[in-house]
Amino acid sequence: MQIGTGRISALLNPVTYVIVNIGIVGLIYIAMRRVDSGFILQGDVVALVNYMGQILIELIKLANLIVLLMKAYPSAMRVQEIMEMKSDERCKEKIPDGDVIIGGSHQLGSISVKNVSFSYNGGNEYDLEDISVEIPAGSTLGIIGGTGSGKSTLVKLLNHTYDATKGIIELDGQDVRKLKDDHLAWKFGIVPQHASLFHGTVRSNLTMKQNEASDDEIKSALKTAQALDFVEAKEGGIDCEVMGRGSNFSGGQRQRLTIARGLMGKPEILVLDDSASALDLGTEAKLRRALSELSWNPTKIIVSQRASSVKDADQILVLDDGKCVGLGTHEELIETCETYQEIYYCQFPREEAK
Ligand SMILES: Nc1ncnc2c1ncn2[C@@H]1O[C@H](COP(=O)(O)OP(=O)(O)OP(=O)(O)O)[C@@H](O)[C@H]1O
Ligand SMILES: [Mg+2]
Repeated sequence: MQIGTGRISALLNPVTYVIVNIGIVGLIYIAMRRVDSGFILQGDVVALVNYMGQILIELIKLANLIVLLMKAYPSAMRVQEIMEMKSDERCKEKIPDGDVIIGGSHQLGSISVKNVSFSYNGGNEYDLEDISVEIPAGSTLGIIGGTGSGKSTLVKLLNHTYDATKGIIELDGQDVRKLKDDHLAWKFGIVPQHASLFHGTVRSNLTMKQNEASDDEIKSALKTAQALDFVEAKEGGIDCEVMGRGSNFSGGQRQRLTIARGLMGKPEILVLDDSASALDLGTEAKLRRALSELSWNPTKIIVSQRASSVKDADQILVLDDGKCVGLGTHEELIETCETYQEIYYCQFPREEAK
């Protein structure tokens, strides 16, 4: 459709120009003879050429309008398709809400990734290949790896943004494909790789998921995210203005506000996808400490390219080109995993590490 519209828009204006200008040439040619034989006056010919010029302008406007309508129609159809999509369309089978949450006395938030492979284009070349990891509730998993190694892709599989091509992901023992989108939205607090803030206030940005949140809850999330100080220093405090894309905040401040949003509603699973990359090491250390002291002790998944961010995690998954090349604690990986050693010793001098 795009190609068709592009071709038509590329053709319509020149074709209109050619037709109308050929018309003007024809008009002058015919009028030349009529003027010679005294049928019409020269002034009439000039007036006719002017009329043709005006017709040309209007025809070009019409041609542009047709192109706009041809682009708008498929866009409107696509928007309608999305608006009509049922939120739980991808659920493998419907489960009544009450049956989903198991756990009883034990803490919720365990994740089990079983031989998961994933390909964006659905072909045989996998962007993630045969990943397996058990993440007990309340524990911390660090995911580290070079750029494009599949860290964000794995995170997107955990909350069922995409279906795994092969393998199974279970949350609290339930296949993630059976869980409703609303349920997953509450279960996960995802802090995306790129801070996303909207025009409004700090309060409106933090309470997108939970409209009725109290000031204390908002301040507590901001405090954990190391954002309370600079928010309170602004006029209006938590009701201070946030401009579109958070352009009136620095990169690190935007990241901290997005982390605070991820903490709202006390999610069982908190995912930080490289979301502290713009913070200085001191602030990041304070953030890590605050996250480890959260009262509800969520399961934490910390994606980072910095070894210092994942070093203290209960287990670290090392990805390289979509494959798991190491899984264990820092102490285990520093002895056995070449990729982890490379990343770690790049950031910490070898003598210091020993
Ligand atoms: N929407 C997409 N469509 C097709 N391919 C994608 C898409 N998103 C990512 N990829 C590909 O999947 C692979 C893994 O990407 P991913 O974003 O998971 O990497 P990453 O480890 O998070 O990298 P970074 O540290 O730069 O964020 C890359 O080769 C990337 O090109
Ligand atoms: Mg990423």
